[in-house]
Amino acid sequence: MQKEFSYLRGVRNYHESEVLPGALPLTQNSPQHLAYGLYAEQINGTAFTSPRSANLKSWQYRLRPSVLHGGEDRLCDGLLQGNDIITPPTQFRWDPPAYKEGAYDVFQGSVKYVSNGVVGQDGCAVYLFTATASMTDTFFVNHDAEMLFIAQEGELLFKTEFGCLTIKPGEIAIMPRGVCFQIELCEARARGYYVENYGRAFTLLDRGVIGANGTTEERDFLVPVAWFEERSGAFTMLRKFEGHVWQHAIGHSPLDVVAWHGFYYPYKYDLTLFKSFFTASVDHPDPSIFVVLSSPSAVPGTSSVDFVIFPEHWMVAEHTFRPPYYHRNIMSEFMGNIIGQYDAKENGFIPGSASLHNSMSGHGPDSLSYQHAIEKQLKPEHYVHNLAFMVESNKPYRLTEAAHQATNRQKAYRDCWKDLKLNFKK
Ligand SMILES: [Fe+2]
Repeated sequence: MQKEFSYLRGVRNYHESEVLPGALPLTQNSPQHLAYGLYAEQINGTAFTSPRSANLKSWQYRLRPSVLHGGEDRLCDGLLQGNDIITPPTQFRWDPPAYKEGAYDVFQGSVKYVSNGVVGQDGCAVYLFTATASMTDTFFVNHDAEMLFIAQEGELLFKTEFGCLTIKPGEIAIMPRGVCFQIELCEARARGYYVENYGRAFTLLDRGVIGANGTTEERDFLVPVAWFEERSGAFTMLRKFEGHVWQHAIGHSPLDVVAWHGFYYPYKYDLTLFKSFFTASVDHPDPSIFVVLSSPSAVPGTSSVDFVIFPEHWMVAEHTFRPPYYHRNIMSEFMGNIIGQYDAKENGFIPGSASLHNSMSGHGPDSLSYQHAIEKQLKPEHYVHNLAFMVESNKPYRLTEAAHQATNRQKAYRDCWKDLKLNFKK
């Protein structure tokens, strides 16, 4: 399988793509006769009557319609499960998960850490994964959620109904709800994170006072071109539905879309292309300036899920406290680190790690970072070599038992603040 692909540029734009010439009908979505004996099928990511500006639908022209992807579903307990515990407001942090022995794919190597809201309707869940094998004869479709994958180690290849795309560390891939795909490893092993977004599909935020340019640019989001395989065999279809994983046998590859057009498709984004804004005077700006993708809630200005990054950037402020200040937010924060050292944590948050700071739980720089920040002679030319991310939500996260019991959980995480001295002098 090749690793280099051509892409269409721009997310939320209308795109069309065909593998075979003439496979895409030009004047109708569903003509009486289609070229090559293909079937026409529509996939809707929004209700029929959603405003045109928000409407997400695509038409596919495929070897077989998705009714033939079905089967007698059997409950596949254990995979992607995670029993919630009664979650304390405590701050939590985890080391990177260790690789297991043997061959296992991304979903077999996934552990659900947190979730909130209602599966399939509102809120999100965050998983950490390791993998040592490709999905070759297994296909996956998520009825509950749009999925956002974050590569942290190793390159991943997504083969989807709409085409193929790869992501390496520092890149993300978004798989729309209901779209079938499988994940192959381009290297011996891979590690990363993914988010299940149960609410409205991720979108780009308005820029407000920033103006017409900067942060995310539509053209930097890449969409796969059409690709299909005609393959028969004894395959397995995995379906995430209502919080459970179901499986059934399928005798052919469902990745058989020869042509498609519309607004609903997978896409990828290189996080290093994000155009950052930061203070040019004093203080530490709020992370809302770093939102890459947002799933809005019904309350204006309040997201169900914001995917936020802390990208590489210059720090130029003098005579100010540069790291994130101590804070308590109504929003809940699940973080991960992809590359480098996060500026508020000198120890314990290496790439592959994760942390949870729930609604109104205080957090901020560890003792060492605080001490260095107040003692350091600040010069403008300081470059932060780091790429971290945050999944911020308007609902507190419930911790899973697996995450609470995980051997990589740092049980002494709160000690990172224990050396903060009482400096008060009258
Ligand atoms: Fe925070």
